[in-house]
Amino acid sequence: MIVVTGGAGYIGSHTVKSLLARREPIVVLDDLSEGHRDAVLGGKLETIDLGDREAVREIFHREPIEAVIHFAALCSVPDSVRDPDRYFRANVENTLHLLSAMVETHVRFFIFSSSAATYGTPERTPIAEDHRCAPINPYGLTKLQVEDALRWYGESHGLRSVSLRYFNAAGADPDGDLGEDHRPEGHLVPLLLRAAIGRVPRVSLFGDDYVTPDGTCIRDYVHVTDLADAHCLALDALRRGGDGGVFNLGNGAGYSVRSVVAAAERVVGKPIPTQIAPRRPGDPPVLVASSDRAARELGWKPKFADLDVIVSTAWNWIREHPDGYDN
Ligand SMILES: NC(=O)c1ccc[n+]([C@@H]2O[C@H](COP(=O)([O-])OP(=O)(O)OC[C@H]3O[C@@H](n4cnc5c(N)ncnc54)[C@H](O)[C@@H]3O)[C@@H](O)[C@H]2O)c1
Repeated sequence: MIVVTGGAGYIGSHTVKSLLARREPIVVLDDLSEGHRDAVLGGKLETIDLGDREAVREIFHREPIEAVIHFAALCSVPDSVRDPDRYFRANVENTLHLLSAMVETHVRFFIFSSSAATYGTPERTPIAEDHRCAPINPYGLTKLQVEDALRWYGESHGLRSVSLRYFNAAGADPDGDLGEDHRPEGHLVPLLLRAAIGRVPRVSLFGDDYVTPDGTCIRDYVHVTDLADAHCLALDALRRGGDGGVFNLGNGAGYSVRSVVAAAERVVGKPIPTQIAPRRPGDPPVLVASSDRAARELGWKPKFADLDVIVSTAWNWIREHPDGYDN
């Protein structure tokens, strides 16, 4: 059985769908603080808070668990700057609850949702995994601390792990079953599309004075279904006896905030109201991935690399679900 923490959330729910297609038995651990019951398309759902160490242990002692895919976390860079204590507890301490339960019950495979935020402000792009890691916000540091812990759980307890450093997840299930429904929404693509249907009055673009061609931040957008597939490939690699380690997941193409606005306007066929706002603390100007290692060692090849395709899948879901999972 595969434990999927945060399986009711955005990337977790898409990964659950991919695992179900492979007939993997699944138990989702999610407190539904950010996730949605209806986003869990199958398997068991245990509504627990990973902060409850005893509840976590009880599940590991009860179920025949083979592997853990760990999505559950707090994910907002600006919130992490405002309230680091909450972030270290949710993202580091709660992960240790899982790892202790795994050691106790001899579960050996762990796949971790890490982030491009581990790099901080990169010295060169595209960023490869051996680039120096120097996070510039607590969120990125929580991810790096878990990666470091995983190496030592490997050395000392034989735990085998894959840390997947996602760049900017975007898009929605191409079949239209799942989408992105964060409350409040902090991600650019769904915000633009929600503005297009009148659910958001105007989208703030944070900073237009970065040293980039149009002054706005550049990011690497990767389709959520491609991320989901990478988790299945990581599981296969661990089962084959692969070494695991750290892998970037991005498309290797950088798009400025303004060019994402242009793509969204192309997809929806009308202008979208935006306004320039001050820079946010903790935002590096450019983040673009080299995912060569994932291609080489996991056999990962994104199927939905085109930005307009990514935005179109998100648009299809938002048009059908203007109230998200409340529809
Ligand atoms: N979305 C991105 O672009 C992105 C980029 C890089 C890394 N990540 C990482 O990927 C993971 C998933 O991101 P997402 O966008 O799907 O987030 P999400 O908020 O949609 O999903 C997180 C899920 O975890 C659950 N959760 C949170 N705290 C919990 C707790 N204490 N106990 C049990 N469940 C809890 C939430 O209810 C939610 O369902 C996170 O670890 C995030 O840091 C996301």
